[in-house]
Amino acid sequence: MEVFRIQGGTRLVGQVRITGAKNSSLKLMATALLAPGLTTIRSVPNILDVAIMAELLRRLGCAVNYNPETEVAQINVPETIEHRADYDLVRRMRASIAVLGPLVARTGSADVALPGGDAIGSRGLDMHTAGLERMGATVTNEHGYLVVHAPTNGLVGTQVYLDFPSVGATETLLMAAVLANGQTVIDNAAREPEIVDICQMLQKMGANISGVGSSLITIEGVAKLNPVDYDTVPDRIVAGTWAVAAAMTQGDIEITNANPDHISMALDKLVAAGAQVSSSNAGFRVQMDRRPKAIDIVTLPYPGFATDLQPQFIAMNAISEGQAMVTENLFEARFRFVQELSRLGAEVRTDGHHALVRGRANLSGAPVEATDIRAGAGLVLAGLVADGETVVHAIEHIDRGYVGFEKDLTRLGAKITREKSQDFS
Ligand code: UD1
Repeated sequence: MEVFRIQGGTRLVGQVRITGAKNSSLKLMATALLAPGLTTIRSVPNILDVAIMAELLRRLGCAVNYNPETEVAQINVPETIEHRADYDLVRRMRASIAVLGPLVARTGSADVALPGGDAIGSRGLDMHTAGLERMGATVTNEHGYLVVHAPTNGLVGTQVYLDFPSVGATETLLMAAVLANGQTVIDNAAREPEIVDICQMLQKMGANISGVGSSLITIEGVAKLNPVDYDTVPDRIVAGTWAVAAAMTQGDIEITNANPDHISMALDKLVAAGAQVSSSNAGFRVQMDRRPKAIDIVTLPYPGFATDLQPQFIAMNAISEGQAMVTENLFEARFRFVQELSRLGAEVRTDGHHALVRGRANLSGAPVEATDIRAGAGLVLAGLVADGETVVHAIEHIDRGYVGFEKDLTRLGAKITREKSQDFS
């Protein structure tokens, strides 16, 4: 077990480069299952979840080679693949559910363990399964596994209306529909850039998809898809985290290989907090020369404010001028990290899915524990501006979303080290 030890109080200044999105790369790796042959995926971040997905694909029969230096994943998919995703891998990463659609599409059946993942609230699969059932599949829950069977002649295209624009459900149905018989329409589909990324990879593979990036996606099933070489979209949540870091530390960071359009709502909020945001040749730049003003946020599906940036913004509000209301609409347990933030002296009161944050002039360094990836990032940001020393425990969560976080932070001027935990165990 490792910790980050942070001495607060330095401005972050410099340039940081963003790699491919975790939440896209993992799904693109699963998408590879749809086409026999060698798929190459680029800008795949060197994180544990990628290793877990690689192992999952190997157990399904693929040969997977990931080079952490070049960030290239090569996946050789055989003609015949297995259809079982085991509990020991799936429980470690919710994104494993991304193999569900491809397995049903390719093999006609899937046994996928019910997933685990971040401890940020109950995350159902009802929309995934209801959609597959609409396409003719039978779905049962047997001994902790979701067991899905397509009809003998394959899934049948249909109209599916999602109760909520779920990222995961949209992906499952998209991947199931590309090889189905006839036309599938996904209404109220998620519009996240990572969904667009998967659609674009599928199109390159030969899928027939229209309405990409809209809430109405139409898919004409094709008989076969081809393996491709594809580059992952940059990670907008990591980019947004650096943008908040610049604002909180009254710093000046150029964030390169990033697409500011993918976080325009968050950047608007930073401008409202007093930051200057400008585009640069390689990405965008965030500068701040004052204490931020507290700002209200409401998390919503894309293009609304991303829930994955909510903890970072709570951390910023905690040291801002004034008070702000943060409303979380996606994951009810996401405020769990507020207790940890309070250990640094933050004044946050939660009630259901609202958190009222009263900004304080100072936070005071303390030991804290990361409860999920983004909470961990929020705590590191708070530690950067707190007086004295903050030790962030359980940083394995942070490592799941941020490659070499402390190295980039050090390059930008932060005082942070990775150390072995001295915890009693
Ligand atoms: C993905 C992201 C996660 C991000 C989230 C929302 C990955 C690996 N994770 O998660 O980082 O925070 O999108 O942008 O890509 N729900 C149901 N039934 C379903 C499906 C979802 O009730 O069948 C609920 C969930 O419990 C949750 C909400 O819908 O409350 C959002 O879930 P969803 O959009 O599917 O997010 P994920 O794909 O799990």
